[in-house]
Amino acid sequence: MEKTERTYLDMIKETASWLRSEVGELPKIGIILGTGLGDLVNYIDIKTEIDYHTIPNFPVSTVEGHSGKLIFGMLGGKYIVAMQGRFHFYEGYDMKQVTFPVRVMKEIGVEILFVSNAAGGMNKEFMVGDVMVITDHINLFPENPLRGRNFDELGPRFPAMTEPYSQALINMADDIAKENKIRIMHGVYVGTQGPTFETPAEYEYFRIIGGDAVGMSTVPEVIVANHAGMRVFGVSVITDLGGKDIKEVPTHEEVQKAAIKAQPVMTSIITQMLERL
Ligand code: HPA
Repeated sequence: MEKTERTYLDMIKETASWLRSEVGELPKIGIILGTGLGDLVNYIDIKTEIDYHTIPNFPVSTVEGHSGKLIFGMLGGKYIVAMQGRFHFYEGYDMKQVTFPVRVMKEIGVEILFVSNAAGGMNKEFMVGDVMVITDHINLFPENPLRGRNFDELGPRFPAMTEPYSQALINMADDIAKENKIRIMHGVYVGTQGPTFETPAEYEYFRIIGGDAVGMSTVPEVIVANHAGMRVFGVSVITDLGGKDIKEVPTHEEVQKAAIKAQPVMTSIITQMLERL
């Protein structure tokens, strides 16, 4: 018998059908929670929780202990699926692995994707703890997640990236911030591979080319979500500041601490957005 090659598309479908049998009814809204931003999970009325390592074809965590969870439940009156923990390129995952969960979300019917991350601020108006709504991004990862064979069923070979973050969702977040008197910033997110934080000259360079904040995630997932025709809302928590006049050294612990402090604002905006969807 001729051996047929199992494709990426086959893997996506297999995982989606496994989730369908495991979870039953599936949501139309997905949320990816970034570093230090897992607190949102405490507000979810959880229906089903699944460890990543039990999901077929999900990347296997390289770090011992918590590999992350897919959480299905109610938030802001809506049925959602949240990823607690994501796969970063700097950990050694390839781009197809980093973005696999987004493909699976789309396959199970997710139409709107919320993404959050911790980021370093270059914009001189920013303060640590600010929440920045992502209006656009600059992809500086060394590889595009769409490189390689394109499955037309998943999206076009040459997708437009003219509205990578939904303007309607940005407007909704702005309305909520205004009504709640929450300080909310806007900006362009620069996505880099890490794991080094930036040199002073690199922060300066990213600011000059149009960036407001820089981080090591989000861009691959947002590219794939756009390819798949999903609407995206992205938010960065500014956990440190960088530039040639800034002497504070960002550390992973500082980033986590700042993210944890800023999460009530992020949680409140996302929850209220869900209520209005
Ligand atoms: N640079 C890159 N990634 C980050 C930073 C930063 O300053 N802060 C949090 N994630």
